[in-house]
Amino acid sequence: MKYRSIALDGPAGAGKSTMARRLAEELGFVYVDTGAIYRTVGYHMDLMGIGPKDIDGITRLIDDVNLQITYDEQGVQHMILNGTDVSGEIRTPEMSMIASTISAHKIVRDFLLDTQRDIARSYNTVMDGRDIGTVVLPHADVKIYLTATPEVRAKRRCDQLAEAGKKVDEKKILQEILKRDEQDMNRPVAPLRQAKDAVLVDSSNQTPDETLSEILSIIRAKLG
Ligand code: DC
Repeated sequence: MKYRSIALDGPAGAGKSTMARRLAEELGFVYVDTGAIYRTVGYHMDLMGIGPKDIDGITRLIDDVNLQITYDEQGVQHMILNGTDVSGEIRTPEMSMIASTISAHKIVRDFLLDTQRDIARSYNTVMDGRDIGTVVLPHADVKIYLTATPEVRAKRRCDQLAEAGKKVDEKKILQEILKRDEQDMNRPVAPLRQAKDAVLVDSSNQTPDETLSEILSIIRAKLG
């Protein structure tokens, strides 16, 4: 049986995870947050005292990373690293930067490629990330490139963090978003870019419900 896949790529803070989760719920597909997978690898290296640019250390330790992806009753993805649920630990601004830096290494991307493709071979998926439509699933049934202005993305990130009770500095968050854009878009291996056959959705002036309904209509037009 051939499973359906929807690739949802875009820059940090564009709302991909929220959209991907809601789309998966709506369509009865499995939601895969690939950023969480990179974050988990970054977290492991950090725990082991290996910096995200230390390619020798990363090469030495990458085979020790045993990843499992599980889902709770609400459909929320959990990352299990060597038997421990690290889903909370990977969600800090520091881990965002570490994940962005570590994800530039070819050895890390190659290590995670099969994990991502295996999921798409086994389930109907909505997969969100940076290179899903260009590299991981070049034959995805539907490709969406979701973006918004850096200022809007920073504002949303701040709101999310504030909601989670964390202290926020909007200027700092904007700088981090711009730095991550720069790193994710300009790395030599699998940079973030819109696939030729991806549909662009700009959520800058939309509510989440409006974005969801625009993406759903694109998907329904393609999948029938
Ligand atoms: O989506 P996110 O913010 O959780 O992703 C964290 C970092 O991981 C992001 O800045 C770049 C990297 N990443 C990637 O290189 N490729 C993906 N498919 C997903 C994330």
